[in-house]
Amino acid sequence: MSSIDREFIDALPKAELHVHIEGTLEPELKLELARRNGVDIGQSTVEEVRATYAFTDLTSFLAVYYPAMEVLVTEQDFHDLALGYLRRAAADGVVRAEIFFDPQAHTSRGVPFATVIDGLWSAIQEAPSLGVDAALIMCFLRDHSAESARETLEASLPYREKIVGVGLDSDERGNPPEKFAEVFAAAQEAGYRLTMHCDVDQEQSIANIATVLHTIGVERIDHGTNILEDPALVAEAMQRGIGFTCCPLSNSFVSDQMKGEEITALLRQGAKVSLASDDPAYFGGYVGDNYAALAAAQQLGREELALLARNSLEISWADQAQVARWLEQLDAVVAS
Ligand code: HPA
Ligand code: ZN
Repeated sequence: MSSIDREFIDALPKAELHVHIEGTLEPELKLELARRNGVDIGQSTVEEVRATYAFTDLTSFLAVYYPAMEVLVTEQDFHDLALGYLRRAAADGVVRAEIFFDPQAHTSRGVPFATVIDGLWSAIQEAPSLGVDAALIMCFLRDHSAESARETLEASLPYREKIVGVGLDSDERGNPPEKFAEVFAAAQEAGYRLTMHCDVDQEQSIANIATVLHTIGVERIDHGTNILEDPALVAEAMQRGIGFTCCPLSNSFVSDQMKGEEITALLRQGAKVSLASDDPAYFGGYVGDNYAALAAAQQLGREELALLARNSLEISWADQAQVARWLEQLDAVVAS
């Protein structure tokens, strides 16, 4: 990838639709928050923190990821975390960020829902000054009970206007989407948009993707490239305009490769594929790095890079008039 193309990638107005705010916790901030809150995390240098980042699949990643959150305690912590992410996103040409957060990862440690959302929300209100329109998506933890998800949904309702949609994350193994069918129906009833993780190479990937499309009725699938194993499902997803939020660098950590061929094949078949960073502090790069990595691996040219950015804007849950303006800006970048 030439430096010119990295400039082109950064210049493309784009939406980032699959980023877990807890996954943007950089080692430097983790150490600072540990000091601030008097939490003994067992490491005292950035190198020591990075040395704990040893994972080979989703389960081993999550075993590092959740304990790291213990440094997040106050509203200010959540604010600082989100503002740090928004600054990096702005530098990568992100004009719209739809940010996942995991309330149960915090409420289960005694941090109130209000602390989490108030801290994140105060950062989101600063996003326009960085040129970013930001929104929050609340994820339920699929390895917790459906009842816990239902309680979390209830807890979110006073903040309904601050949350655009709901998603589902954490360990897919043994936690299929149908476990959450009722709570997703209730969330939709409350006005939330729906997305769900279908992580790469799971035991029941295709069955879970079918359920997510047919029973849950999502608008987007997070990851989801295993859909290629069933051409009829691909055809259906394309016909319905289902969005995919794919994360090449993340894939290269939790599976055997970045799934570049699959992402590119899905894109070239005409599916609404977008790129995102997932957990950038853990997977070695932010959204621009994901564009660059995929472009280098799959020899993508400017047209396909622009198509990825275009898709991300089109499948975002932003105001449609605003999306139209971003698409005009994108066309201008491509033409120049
Ligand atoms: N999959 C499941 N859970 C997660 C992920 C993911 O990609 N990132 C953070 N939590
Ligand atoms: Zn994810």
